[in-house]
Amino acid sequence: MTCNRRTVLKAGVAAAIVATFGSVGPAFAAKPLVIGFSQVGAESEWRTANTVSIKDAAKKDGITLKFADAQQRQENQVKAIRSFIAQRVDIIAFSPVVESGWDTVLREAKAAKIPVILTDRAVNVTDPSLYVTFIGSDFIEEGRLAARWLLERAKKTPDATFNIVELQGTVGSAPAIDRQKGFAEIIAGNPKLKIIRSQTGDFTRTKGKEVMEAFLKAEGKKINVLYAHNDDMAIGAIQAIEEAGMKPGKDILVISIDGVRGAFQAMVAGKMNVTVECNPLFGPQLMQIARDVAANKPVPKRITVQEGVFPAEVAAKEFPNRKY
Ligand code: AHR
Repeated sequence: MTCNRRTVLKAGVAAAIVATFGSVGPAFAAKPLVIGFSQVGAESEWRTANTVSIKDAAKKDGITLKFADAQQRQENQVKAIRSFIAQRVDIIAFSPVVESGWDTVLREAKAAKIPVILTDRAVNVTDPSLYVTFIGSDFIEEGRLAARWLLERAKKTPDATFNIVELQGTVGSAPAIDRQKGFAEIIAGNPKLKIIRSQTGDFTRTKGKEVMEAFLKAEGKKINVLYAHNDDMAIGAIQAIEEAGMKPGKDILVISIDGVRGAFQAMVAGKMNVTVECNPLFGPQLMQIARDVAANKPVPKRITVQEGVFPAEVAAKEFPNRKY
């Protein structure tokens, strides 16, 4: 009898919820997932596309995103993560400016039982259980792909040697470390390919231009190749090459990474030779992983996004398909 009354009562409550919200389950489960996300900054076209992808995906999925821009400073990211812990968000996600120095704050997140998802850039921590998963690119492979393009190009002029200048990304960041490593690995032992200068341009156009100006001042016409760790620095450097009275893409081969629309425009204009894709549009994937993590479902420790290589020859055809 009691049992029957309870059943009737439950059915009544459910009916009222259905009348109000349209269904039973979601009305009870409707507390939106809250993600605290700390972004590196707004240093490049790539980063802007990545931020838009993450914000749009959260909005579309009804996820509350607390977004913090670190302006390329690790201390700002540490502050943001601590604030997310204090706010008791469900998940913390972040793209670390640099690889090292995260153990303490990640231990604090773990002690607060808040799962951490790394996006785009990896960290160097002693205890891998401090984060649940990483979603992003294989930066070492991107460096290798850039160098392999140059190797193929070098085969066309067997007698020529190639003096390379390298514009590195932010010092201590995973993409700078790995893209340098991958490129060096492929050209190692090849007497025709030599890096004559290497310096950081901090992933920005302004710095890329500035450092390229310094390279040109020091080495002038000795430079045959520019390898830039991202398109923004390459675009800045292209300006410096032109201002020095040389032709980017011809006098100096320009090899870069990201695949942003600006790089495709430069390739169509004959000023850049190749860009290796680094895909920033993983917002929807991140939201899915965050939901899985929140639901305690197992997720892979590393999720790598798919990418391609785009030489200048295909730029005009590919340009209309570019989404960032
Ligand atoms: O971490 C990804 C890198 O960061 C992108 O290649 C670059 O453009 C960005 O600033």
